[in-house]
Amino acid sequence: MTPRVKALLERAAVALRSAESTPLLEEIGAADVGLPELLQHLRAKEGWQEEEAWTTPSFRASLFLMPAGGTMPLHDHPGMDALLKVLWGQIRIRSYDWMEGQQALARATSDRLVSPADGAQRLEPHRDNLHRLDAVEDSAFLDLLAPDYDVEAGRPCLYYVEEALVATEGGPSIRLRPVPT
Ligand SMILES: [Fe+2]
Repeated sequence: MTPRVKALLERAAVALRSAESTPLLEEIGAADVGLPELLQHLRAKEGWQEEEAWTTPSFRASLFLMPAGGTMPLHDHPGMDALLKVLWGQIRIRSYDWMEGQQALARATSDRLVSPADGAQRLEPHRDNLHRLDAVEDSAFLDLLAPDYDVEAGRPCLYYVEEALVATEGGPSIRLRPVPT
């Protein structure tokens, strides 16, 4: 990541913890992170790959590559704010929220197709935090998490299996089972 990209990410991370949204990631384009050349590193057998990561005490910024058809399974970022900016391709983002008072049940909150023309997608600690990504085309995105994962502080990244659809008041929900990583 170039010093300019790092400076924008650093400012965006500070804003992320204190404001509703930030346009700073819109200033980062594909060429700033070496795309499309970097996509030649795409390993089609993997659903996704973390090409580059930059961690500081207060945030983690990563550049992910995903081949067309690749999936990043349902997972969460507990207690963390996140911004996801698609720089190349097209990614389907499906988000869920835990249902209050219903253990292991979550309800779909949004289902969006996101391209570079779209703004950064915000995932909050208690809104849209559970999510699954499916690459419609060969894709790349920046992921900014604030703060970073910290298992000891109760912020592990957990993946989930979608076990069953359950009929609940107000519409269907899904039962999720955490998968050991
Ligand atoms: Fe995520």
